[in-house]
Amino acid sequence: MKSKASAPGKVILFGEHFVVYGVKAILCSINKRVTVTAEKINERKISINSKIGNIVLDPGKSISEINSPLKPFYYLANKVIKNQNTGIQINIDSEIPLGAGLGSSSACCVAGAAAIFRLFGEISKEEILKHAIEAEKTIFENTSGADCTVCTYGGIMEYDKKQGFKKIENEPNFHLVIVNSNIKHSTESMVSKVKQFEIENEEEFTKLCDQESKLVKDVLELLKENNTSKIGEKINQNQEYLEIIGISNNELRKMIKMGQKSSFGAKITGSGGGGCIFAITNKSNLDKTLKEFKNKNYDCFSVKIDFKGLNTF
Ligand code: PMV
Repeated sequence: MKSKASAPGKVILFGEHFVVYGVKAILCSINKRVTVTAEKINERKISINSKIGNIVLDPGKSISEINSPLKPFYYLANKVIKNQNTGIQINIDSEIPLGAGLGSSSACCVAGAAAIFRLFGEISKEEILKHAIEAEKTIFENTSGADCTVCTYGGIMEYDKKQGFKKIENEPNFHLVIVNSNIKHSTESMVSKVKQFEIENEEEFTKLCDQESKLVKDVLELLKENNTSKIGEKINQNQEYLEIIGISNNELRKMIKMGQKSSFGAKITGSGGGGCIFAITNKSNLDKTLKEFKNKNYDCFSVKIDFKGLNTF
């Protein structure tokens, strides 16, 4: 018997970094997915296959022994077969670029938890999310859980550290053009960089957090009106705050400037220092924006909000 599940990637529309300090963020899932297939096998092994590598391991190993980006899958499989006399084979197929801040690892954890646990019976989305967050912690211990949450439930949501998530019920119809700088970055080191900024500029940082909170509040209203052009202005404003806290660089600024010219607004998404930016468009300026980046040989594509979240087959 095979069990299959897919989960979407994500974009942080507003509030990255400030969310770490308690400010509300807005995230959405995107129509690029990871699909995971799990199957019981006779041999008592955990076998994981993907485009980034293959591993075959005995169950029962400690996670600290495993030096592979595929370890969240091992963690999930190992947990589920602890008291079962079976092995598991897992296959991963992803449309989401790796390590670019687009939620590839969260989508892997969510689709992985669903495919693996469903081999042994029914399980609720809430339980799947819990296992997925545990699995993600094998890679980034301090994850807020926001990414796995949006990958599970899909759509667009507000998220804050204390109150968790709240889905935004209306369905915005904007398109996002995602542009990948292909500059490697680490969430952990960018979060430390912002921490340093906060320590050295306490007053300014508090003011920025207040400004970001106000901006997010305004955006929640604009989303109700589906006002893409005004939301674009807020995106540009958010980018200015990200510039001040030091997570941008010349290459990202160049990309953002191009995006801001042809679309309604553009900013970094995620931790910055590299990774991706996005530009917000509607049908009137989508092709033009995409073409500008393609003409300059940027790695870019367009996405829409995914409203399905986790899907199981
Ligand atoms: O890992 P990324 O690039 O999707 O960004 C993480 C978002 C931060 O706000 C920088 C950190 C966090 O835990 O929320």
